[in-house]
Amino acid sequence: AENGYDLWLRYHPVKNPSKLKTYRAAASELIFPASSETLRAAKFELTQGLRGLLGMSIPEKQTISKPGAILVGTPVTLGLLKGLISSEKLRSVGREGYIIQTLNHNQKRVTVITANTDIGVLYGVFSYLKLLQMEETVANLSIEDKPSISHRLLNHWDNLDRTVERGYAGFSLWDWHRLPDYIDPRYKDYARANASVGINGTVLTNVNANALILSKEYLAKVAALANVFRPYGIKVYLTARFSAPIELGKLKTADPLDTNVKAWWKAKADEIYSLVPDFGGFLVKANSEGQPGPQNYGRNHADGANMLAEAVQPHGGIVMWRAFVYDNKVPDDRAKQAYNEFKPLDGQFKSNVMIQVKNGAIDFQPREPFHPLFGAMPKTPLAMEFQMTQEYLGFATHLAYLAPMFEETLKSDTYAQGAGSTVAKVIDGTLESHILTGMAGVSNIGNDINWTGHPFAQANWYAFGRLSWNPEASSVKIAGDWLKLTFSKDAGFVEDARSIMMLSREAIVNYMTPLGLHHLMGWSHHYGPGPWIKDKERADWTSVYYHKADSFGIGFNRTSSGSNALSQYAPEVKAKFENINTCPEEYLLWFHHVSWDHKMKSGRTLWEELCYKYNKGVDDVKVMQSTWNLQKGKIDKERFEQVKSLLAIQFKEAQWWRDACVLYFQQFSKRPVPAGYPKPA
Ligand code: GCU
Repeated sequence: AENGYDLWLRYHPVKNPSKLKTYRAAASELIFPASSETLRAAKFELTQGLRGLLGMSIPEKQTISKPGAILVGTPVTLGLLKGLISSEKLRSVGREGYIIQTLNHNQKRVTVITANTDIGVLYGVFSYLKLLQMEETVANLSIEDKPSISHRLLNHWDNLDRTVERGYAGFSLWDWHRLPDYIDPRYKDYARANASVGINGTVLTNVNANALILSKEYLAKVAALANVFRPYGIKVYLTARFSAPIELGKLKTADPLDTNVKAWWKAKADEIYSLVPDFGGFLVKANSEGQPGPQNYGRNHADGANMLAEAVQPHGGIVMWRAFVYDNKVPDDRAKQAYNEFKPLDGQFKSNVMIQVKNGAIDFQPREPFHPLFGAMPKTPLAMEFQMTQEYLGFATHLAYLAPMFEETLKSDTYAQGAGSTVAKVIDGTLESHILTGMAGVSNIGNDINWTGHPFAQANWYAFGRLSWNPEASSVKIAGDWLKLTFSKDAGFVEDARSIMMLSREAIVNYMTPLGLHHLMGWSHHYGPGPWIKDKERADWTSVYYHKADSFGIGFNRTSSGSNALSQYAPEVKAKFENINTCPEEYLLWFHHVSWDHKMKSGRTLWEELCYKYNKGVDDVKVMQSTWNLQKGKIDKERFEQVKSLLAIQFKEAQWWRDACVLYFQQFSKRPVPAGYPKPA
């Protein structure tokens, strides 16, 4: 039965007979000496893939004996390649890139998959298999590809008790109890899936995790996981709880300028590297939501980050220091706090530190304008942090394809160095000439049979990988590829299912938080509507703090007459958002407190538009449902039914959001819903 376990790595037989014939002819023999673990992994993948797709095992040879040979390796591992691919061409794909080339050698047509490194070869193999999976033409290949971002990382919010913070797909994959001796075969499949989309690092533990992970016992378990992931080019990283020197080391302080504290971290880093020689480094959440940090000792983020950076630097490690900081004891608009704390520190971080910034200034809302730190710290590498787990977009129950949201942020223009200074160019290092670059995705993976809970949530993992490899990639194209790889190549199916995916995120914005509204969700669990949430121990954990609905109108005034958060953007951006007539309506209530009677571009009043958008979200889910129903018989029954049931829940809950929010805001607007508006469901 189809359960989705294979993700997008399904090597099912190619059905088109003429395609099958040409593919077989182009895979008549394999020349692939594999002496490293990575090359063996690549060879295993290729031979398994060809066996599944072409229904044959490819004979292995030492030299080319007939047309259709596939040659795989680096110029070092396969000397034959030296004369076939120019060294300039190879050089241009860098350390992780690859080349796939069909060419004639002694009148024989051959396919070459090559790279400078073994890991580049593995990426090339996955890319070649993808061509076959998608049934593309392989007769005249000339592919050169390489990643634009150096650190492409999953961030697991996994705790040591295997619960996953904001995880909706079961428990953590990491079976700490049985590690290091029991290696769940799933670890390898996890690594394969990641490598197939170019992900090259994984932070195993939650940003809120305790310090235990840094103990000797747990480090042995970490080392066991690192051993499984290593052949796939995936480095392991850990979160470092800032107070670990106290909790584990029994020191009296965790002050980053204290000599004993520094020595403790150095020794800890040395210990980690003795077990995991290619350990990636630390991810840190400090002085945020009650977590300890350097500010506890009157120090700043740079003091904290640099102390850790010094500890891992001799081993080639890095520190990813998160900019997600806020504190309700700071009276200013929460949206401003990260910028206020970090911008003055630009230039003070060591060269192996990246500041990891969420896409927006609040917290992974269905829509946020780009974070004002992007473009504002030119001397510091900024890594992007996206959230794949749908904390605020319906968990693993609602179908939400997130790539359009990621793309929206990446394409946003910061104007930091004039027009065209997109967020993508900030994080890929081209705008400010950084070599250290990163994109992190908060994982949506758990031990559910299909990894992500909702079958379509797999697409967010996949798309994250693709965008971290190439932040300029198109979300529509990625959706189409994913559907073909995961479900079916049937053109009608792909078109319909892709339209569902491309509609999904905007539908959610509409039924949850249209027109720039944000943070309206239920208390603590963050599921379902809760625009009425107030009187909690923290103002910034309520909803009324953000929407500010009153008899005049609704929205958070972040212009110069309000919190002036807009002053954190470049003048061009600020000017556009500051003016209520030029502010894009999707951000209107993010930046402005707007009268209920304000005329919108549609001609409706704000109140009518709000009602309209909420209902549009519901209607769009209806469209998603009816489009999905047409797919019956085009894909397997199991996943068809699963998605169908989940869409039915989504429809119910879209109505719940609409009705709750419209009724709640109506208390302030004191205006009737538009004529013909649906009665609460
Ligand atoms: C959100 C989320 C928390 C998480 C935090 C973070 O606030 O609800 O669970 O710890 O983000 O990113 O640190």
